[in-house]
Amino acid sequence: MTMKYRRLGKTGRKVSVIGIGTWQFGGEWGKSFSQDEVNRILGRGKELGINLIDTAECYGDHLSERLIGGYLKQDRREDWFVATKFGHQFHSHLTRTDRYSASDVLEQLDASLKALQTDYIDLYQFHSGSNEAFDNDELWTMLDKQVQAGKIRHLGTSIGKNDNLYQTEQSSRVHSEVIQVIYNRLDRKPEDKVFPSCIEQHLGVLARVPLASGYLSGKYKPGAVFAANDVRHNHDKEAALDKLKQVEEIRLNEVPQGMDMAQWALAWSLKHDAVTSVIPGCKSVEQVESNAAAAQWVGEGHPQAWEEA
Ligand SMILES: NC(=O)c1ccc[n+]([C@@H]2O[C@H](COP(=O)([O-])OP(=O)(O)OC[C@H]3O[C@@H](n4cnc5c(N)ncnc54)[C@H](OP(=O)(O)O)[C@@H]3O)[C@@H](O)[C@H]2O)c1
Repeated sequence: MTMKYRRLGKTGRKVSVIGIGTWQFGGEWGKSFSQDEVNRILGRGKELGINLIDTAECYGDHLSERLIGGYLKQDRREDWFVATKFGHQFHSHLTRTDRYSASDVLEQLDASLKALQTDYIDLYQFHSGSNEAFDNDELWTMLDKQVQAGKIRHLGTSIGKNDNLYQTEQSSRVHSEVIQVIYNRLDRKPEDKVFPSCIEQHLGVLARVPLASGYLSGKYKPGAVFAANDVRHNHDKEAALDKLKQVEEIRLNEVPQGMDMAQWALAWSLKHDAVTSVIPGCKSVEQVESNAAAAQWVGEGHPQAWEEA
């Protein structure tokens, strides 16, 4: 089984098509994580060729970053492409407040570097903020300076709504080189406008929520109930029911017999020409193994396929 790699748009960086999403490490998905568990998940991911981690300032109060930092300090930092985000202060389970001013973000950057136990972040992403928060020249000028200082390698934008064409189109102007966006078999909205703009600007694309929060794994039946400390407990019940009914149809009509549906769903998102990598959230060694194995279903000939120089 071999991992596949792509060029992350104009960053020119080599990233595995399967990444590791780590909102889960912050403890809002029905379980908390020990350093040892995180070490085993990331270590196994690395053995399987994964080099891309996505985290954020508000997955716990820099908690997910701290667990990743605990792993990175005993590994070779340069083997990993670490993406994190800015713009919120975590307070308690699913409760955050906005912090997008230049001075607040500078403070968060230093807190993220400290938590990650590193002196640079590969990709620093504007985290699902409003267009008003985005339209702040002081913020982007400050970030440019941090790039020049070497604390940040590349800037990116994680768009909150997956049809936010405004922030996507503004990417080149603010020197943001990557879009992170919800894209999966149940939600294809970016195909209309966001992806064409990404292709035109030569942006890298990280497809988040590629398993539709786990619903697309096929293991949940309509009416599934989640623990109170699992973010899915708060999902709109009607919408979740509708998604799980669609998943049953898709499984019957589109997923080859005997194929693991989560792997199928990841490979599905990776087919689009705009998409560089998927970043499925991961809770166990078994899941990182299964997700890495999805690379075997990813076809050749993608426009961003990595070719050794
Ligand atoms: N605004 C933003 O920028 C933003 C927002 C959301 C997410 N993200 C990022 O995107 C990442 C991915 O999104 P997400 O975690 O929300 O949703 P997701 O990747 O669609 O779903 C993750 C969930 O699917 C289940 N799963 C994972 N691998 C599986 C496998 N092989 N087989 C079966 N089930 C599996 C796990 O939950 P169970 O096992 O409990 O079902 C896991 O918690 C996040 O971790 C985060 O890094 C960013």
